[in-house]
Amino acid sequence: MQGGDRCDADLDRGLRGVMPGGRASAGEAVAWAERLGVPLLEAYPDGPGVALVAEAPPALQILGRKAPGPVRLDFTDPRLQRRAAGTTVRRDPLARAVGLHRRPGTAVVDATAGLGRDGWILAHLGARVAWVEASPTLAVLLRGALDRAANEPGLSATAQRLALHPGDLRQVLGELPAAEREVVYLDPMYPSGTTRGGVGREAQALRQLHGGTAGATDGELLAAAREHATRQVVVKRPQRAHPVDGPAPARSVPGRAIRFDIYAPA
Ligand SMILES: C[S@@+](CC[C@H](N)C(=O)[O-])C[C@H]1O[C@@H](n2cnc3c(N)ncnc32)[C@H](O)[C@@H]1O
Repeated sequence: MQGGDRCDADLDRGLRGVMPGGRASAGEAVAWAERLGVPLLEAYPDGPGVALVAEAPPALQILGRKAPGPVRLDFTDPRLQRRAAGTTVRRDPLARAVGLHRRPGTAVVDATAGLGRDGWILAHLGARVAWVEASPTLAVLLRGALDRAANEPGLSATAQRLALHPGDLRQVLGELPAAEREVVYLDPMYPSGTTRGGVGREAQALRQLHGGTAGATDGELLAAAREHATRQVVVKRPQRAHPVDGPAPARSVPGRAIRFDIYAPA
């Protein structure tokens, strides 16, 4: 399946255009602009919003005078590789919440894939992971990053445990075979103002790109996840935030600034 084709085209309202970059071909920038239905840029416009920079690897650039540097979706990034190398199924709170320490090879749907990092770490730790992402821009970036990782000798084994399903989780979950949705993992967009001391540039870039969930409340996403998970649902929350609207979680696994709430299927 091609990235973006089944996504919500209105979702990425903050994408202002595609900027040709250094090492990518001009043809690639034109193709992305056509595919995403945005202009090919000659100069960065003023903010708000983001530009997709067609370089290798591609980047999201927040627009505006004081904008932070670009956000890349790149699994060859040494920082991500260090994070992956430094964790284990027993140490990683998300892996424990998913139950990977008890059931190696668990099938997880990372149903709000975003920049794909949580799903990548789970796949590195042995899970079979299906990414679902409603943003056409992020689906295109995830597809490219996964293809590049699949060609890297040290990363190809992890890449082979990942598959991308562009689209809204409320539609895609029901189309996945039951064996692929043992655990459904949700990391909904943080509501503004919940992070102390400002938000990282990744979260800023996602907010500038589309600013929230694809036309659904977090409670509706939880209901869809509980309907389709065959074993459990895991929801990432800021440490002090209320659980998502709906039934109370069965239990929680604490992380550093976050926690993972665990729910039984509906
Ligand atoms: C906070 S980000 C997830 C970050 C991710 N855990 C990571 O490690 O990079 C939330 C993502 O959920 C996506 N999203 C929101 N509503 C969705 C829906 N209904 N279906 C699928 N994806 C959705 C957004 O486009 C956004 O990329």
